[in-house]
Amino acid sequence: MSQEPLSIVVLAAGKGTRMRNGRPKVLHPLAGWPLIRHVLATARALEPDRLVVVLAPHMDAVAAEVRGFAPDARIAIQDPPLGTGHAVAAARSDLLGSGAVLVLYGDTPLLTRDTLVGLLGLRREAGAAVAVLAFRPPDPSGYGRLRFSGDALVELVEERHADARLKAEGLCNSGVMAFDAARLPVLLDALPLRSEKNEYYLTDTVSAAVARGWSCRALEAPWVEGLGVNSQRQLAELERLWQERRREELLDAGVVMPAPETVFLAADCSIEPGALIEPFVVLGVGVEIGAGVVVHAFSHLEAAKVEAGAVVGPFARLRPGTVLEVGARVGNFVETKAARLGRGAKANHLSYLGDATIGAGANIGAGTITCNYDGFAKHRTEIGAGAFIGSNTALVAPVRVGAGAIVGAGSTVTEDVPEDAVAVARARQETRAGRAPGLKERLRARAPARKG
Ligand code: UD1
Ligand code: CA
Repeated sequence: MSQEPLSIVVLAAGKGTRMRNGRPKVLHPLAGWPLIRHVLATARALEPDRLVVVLAPHMDAVAAEVRGFAPDARIAIQDPPLGTGHAVAAARSDLLGSGAVLVLYGDTPLLTRDTLVGLLGLRREAGAAVAVLAFRPPDPSGYGRLRFSGDALVELVEERHADARLKAEGLCNSGVMAFDAARLPVLLDALPLRSEKNEYYLTDTVSAAVARGWSCRALEAPWVEGLGVNSQRQLAELERLWQERRREELLDAGVVMPAPETVFLAADCSIEPGALIEPFVVLGVGVEIGAGVVVHAFSHLEAAKVEAGAVVGPFARLRPGTVLEVGARVGNFVETKAARLGRGAKANHLSYLGDATIGAGANIGAGTITCNYDGFAKHRTEIGAGAFIGSNTALVAPVRVGAGAIVGAGSTVTEDVPEDAVAVARARQETRAGRAPGLKERLRARAPARKG
């Protein structure tokens, strides 16, 4: 997209001590994705020539996440972490010497590509050394502030140094900054060590630029995009805002959700227009919902693909690897895992279908269980097209039921059933005519006398 070379640096070396649980801040989940994955996804949408992530030593889990999601990213190690300015300096040798350098924070996940394109455009057109993304959060506490002279940004002031008047203006530093790559090294070299925190602040690049007669600009973003995560409370608040934003996008795109505030979505779940998502539904990571699908209330889906016209729930649980082909149905209290239900296949009540393939149009009776695990390994169940599995059948895998076959209710199936066969695998019923009254007499005589 860019008309100039673009390097992006994602800062994630901070300890995140304010999260209070020892887990790296940027691995905390937002909409089912680690925070940093949101930032990496947005960064990649800008198609940068270089993508560098700054980590502290021993952040192996974060490095694994970066390598897994963005194998093209370089990892720079900041050892020891001495502030945001020092962090960008740690990435210096990985950056291109011309064009723009965009700095993003691993803990600021709601940014959009369009906003960043705007910031890069502003910097380029203004010929500015630095362009800062500003925003007006409802609660500005903790954020740095911006000081202007006319249109020109002249200083970024950390909150603890801001006077009442500057604070009252409410405009805050999101942390996102775009630099002229050619002038960035000079600015980094000029940063003073701030004694109050023993850190080099990236924010001080603005005064360093102004001191050299170089101009700086700011762009105000929609406030939600600037929010950062420093605490569990802020993380929960960002989750709420993320969910709100995504629900609105889906409604605008034609998804039907009568109670959107009760539907929870993951970062990468896709829903086609025309699908109906009833109240209290959780759609997790990797879920794909086709057109005209109905997901009834209280259903929970993860990494499941639901093709057009299929119906799910209420109270269904689709676990990873589930595929419901066109028009298939999975009803209440049915759990599926690594299971494919062919076109129009039905499992409407009280079943567990794991490691299974179910052919088109097959009917799985209430209470059917695939016994896929023998305590050591998982085994597959294969059910052919048009087969009928009677209620309360246990299918002991590995096992196959051929197309068109019928399995009698209550069967425990341990051997393959050929195509079009009828299999009944349960104790034969014994019926003794007229014997009930005598049995009742004997039972009554044997029962202990009832008190009262
Ligand atoms: C910073 C800004 C502040 C801004 C706010 C926006 C500075 C001095 N202040 O404050 O003006 O309003 O972000 O959220 O920049 N990091 C490193 N190495 C370090 C320190 C931090 O990589 O040595 C990373 C962190 O992992 C994090 C980001 O930089 O992703 C920001 O660090 P943080 O400590 O959260 O900065 P704030 O105090 O929030
Ligand atoms: Ca922060």
